[in-house]
Amino acid sequence: MSVKPLRECGPAARIAVIAGDGIGKEVTPESVKAIRSAITSARRQIEFVEFDWGADKFLREGVSLPAGAVEMLANEFDAILFGALGDPRVPSNQHAADILLGLRFKLDLFVNARPVELFHDRLTPLRDRSANDIRFMVFRENTEGLYVGVGGFFKKDTPDEIAVQEDVNSRKGVERIIRHAFDYARRNQLKRVCMSDKSNAMNFAHDLWQRVFKQVLQEYPEIESRHLYVDTLAMEVVRDPRQFDVIVTCNLFGDIISDLGAQLAGGLGLAPSGNIHPGRTSLFEPVHGSAPNIAGKGIANPLGSILTSGMMLDFLGWKSEGDALRNAVRSALQENFVTPDLGGDKATVEVGDWIAKRVGDR
Ligand code: NAD
Ligand code: IPM
Ligand code: MN
Repeated sequence: MSVKPLRECGPAARIAVIAGDGIGKEVTPESVKAIRSAITSARRQIEFVEFDWGADKFLREGVSLPAGAVEMLANEFDAILFGALGDPRVPSNQHAADILLGLRFKLDLFVNARPVELFHDRLTPLRDRSANDIRFMVFRENTEGLYVGVGGFFKKDTPDEIAVQEDVNSRKGVERIIRHAFDYARRNQLKRVCMSDKSNAMNFAHDLWQRVFKQVLQEYPEIESRHLYVDTLAMEVVRDPRQFDVIVTCNLFGDIISDLGAQLAGGLGLAPSGNIHPGRTSLFEPVHGSAPNIAGKGIANPLGSILTSGMMLDFLGWKSEGDALRNAVRSALQENFVTPDLGGDKATVEVGDWIAKRVGDR
């Protein structure tokens, strides 16, 4: 696979849009609208190409991730804007595993960046905490761990059944995500990196995390390195989130801690993420899923997807456009122009239109 440079202020970007299932189909168009509105400079051009991959296609045609899709995305697109996958009609979740985990693995998107940032004091469930107290980045390893699908059943469907799920950790895989966390801290003048594992119980997989962490941290003497077991991390993040600038952890723990973090900052409706391999085609998606319980009602919060688009524009090197999206989200929260999950009464499309107008008026 060719390694692409980041498109630092380049003139044109091609974005693949995979809205997916459920509320993915509702929030993603609002993001596209917001991005179009942010691209005002004649120096920037953006082309969106939509792909209908998801449960409907899977149920209709038996196709999840089409043949050749990975190469096509890697070679012809700068980034992928993704909604969510998951549908009650596909209880195995096979299509989501093929498409979402498939793209994370096959595009080698080893960094799952999930920022936790409180945009408005009233949104946190924590008492006496304000926006300055809740601002940290979770880096989740995104290509290994318990997600690789290595395992099997023995004596399936009998009373003696055994299920095995292997936790796969390579030295290279662990090292590159830990190094990425330190580099990010250094680049952004952040002082603290916390690595979290469960090495007191997982004495092989997380022994490797321990040894790699202790080796890599020596190269970053100006950064305060810390380790917490993941159970303690979950507790400390709630007790005093001010302690954290950067958290780095394995695939499964990162999944869990990022939902916890999302709730500290207003809930899943607001949480953005990027699945990134620096310099290559990367995939941007809100942290939330397809939310079947509210899908089709037109009330899903599009702000998580719009903040996700902000991360995507940053990745393309279009920082001022990314800022425009973030500022508009901040204004919507300040003016309480929000969907029911945040206590408002606005519809998905109303919030999307408001953001697009605010971005366009800047
Ligand atoms: P979920 O994130 O879809 O929903 C959890 C809760 O948060 C629900 O009550 C939902 O209504 C609410 N919520 C989530 N996003 C919201 C938004 N934008 N606005 C308002 N409310 C919102 O998680 P779940 O219910 O555990 O999973 C549903 C399906 O989504 C499953 O199939 C799961 O596998 C899938 N999923 C997919 C992704 C992804 O594609 N990246 C992520 C998580 C879950
Ligand atoms: C997420 C989701 C996925 C994950 C699921 C849908 C496989 O929860 O992106 O956080 O666990 O990575
Ligand atoms: Mn998750």
